[in-house]
Amino acid sequence: MSAQGPNLAELEVQARDAVAAADSASALADVRASYLGRKGSVAGVLRTIGDLAPEERGRVGKQANEVKARIEALVSERKNALALREQDQSLSQHQLDVSLPGAGRPLGHLHPLTRVQRDLEDFFWGRGYSIEEGPEVETEYNNFDALNVPADHPARDMQDTFWLEDGHVLRTHTSPVQIRAMSEREPPFYLVAPGRVYRHDLSPRHSPMFAQVEGFAVDENLSFGDLKGLLFSFADHMMGADMELRLRSSFFPFTEPSAEIDFRCLLCRGDGCATCSQSGWIEWGGCGMIHPQVLRNCNIDPDRWQGFAFGMGLERAAMLRHGLPHIRLLYDGDLRVLEQF
Ligand code: PHE
Repeated sequence: MSAQGPNLAELEVQARDAVAAADSASALADVRASYLGRKGSVAGVLRTIGDLAPEERGRVGKQANEVKARIEALVSERKNALALREQDQSLSQHQLDVSLPGAGRPLGHLHPLTRVQRDLEDFFWGRGYSIEEGPEVETEYNNFDALNVPADHPARDMQDTFWLEDGHVLRTHTSPVQIRAMSEREPPFYLVAPGRVYRHDLSPRHSPMFAQVEGFAVDENLSFGDLKGLLFSFADHMMGADMELRLRSSFFPFTEPSAEIDFRCLLCRGDGCATCSQSGWIEWGGCGMIHPQVLRNCNIDPDRWQGFAFGMGLERAAMLRHGLPHIRLLYDGDLRVLEQF
């Protein structure tokens, strides 16, 4: 037997004791270095292999590597044990009570207006309508002229708005989305477009900036009956079936015939109050069959295609849902108000 054989076996026994005695991660690291490191004992044995008889070298080298692997395994076992012990100690020191409630952040919720918008998108998406957007800065042509509202038309007074220096306007309604879609694409269309609009308006029901949704359909054989059915089920979806709705004949230059959509004022239940200007009804929006001239302006043949369109205020729907007496409550960001919904 070579002189190296027992040396290695002895080394392994010593290493086993030293590893077991190491009482901390750093002590263990020292033990490991002293046996397995580049200047450690096992390396020392390997360095002297050259002095052995040639037939011994292979056997001792193999034995050294096996010893090395076994010591390595002992070290990592000990390392895990030490880590577990440390964890146990720190848990018992900190008296962790796992039944205590966590330090969570309070959860917010969607703004009532966002909810109205998502609900309406849900309704129309389910009926095959696409959901689109138009720009808030619009050309005068798309906002007025193409919708059959020439420069001298009195309807422009009712929708006075903010004019930009280069002849663009902040759009007064979402109706220009009709023009954009119809001039770029071929019918049929089933489309809704929610978004912000701007007008010279201020009252409990009006704000200079508010949100509308435009909806329109162009196809063969569409009638006012299709429009009415759609609007009534839309109102059911948004406000619940017990809300009262009425269509009142009206005028818009871009629809013929035209109607306004009113709902019963829920604040006074129809008796009359400041919010509904004592009328018992609140106007929600306008609608009608798309005027043939508007179709022609978009190169669509009115003898083949008909369409209906509607546009309503999103704030009105949120006010009705929550009994809000003033539109501004939706913009103030006052948590005392918003946290009620
Ligand atoms: N754009 C109209 C408004 O803002 C509403 C409307 C849309 C009326 C579509 C008819 C058809 O007052």
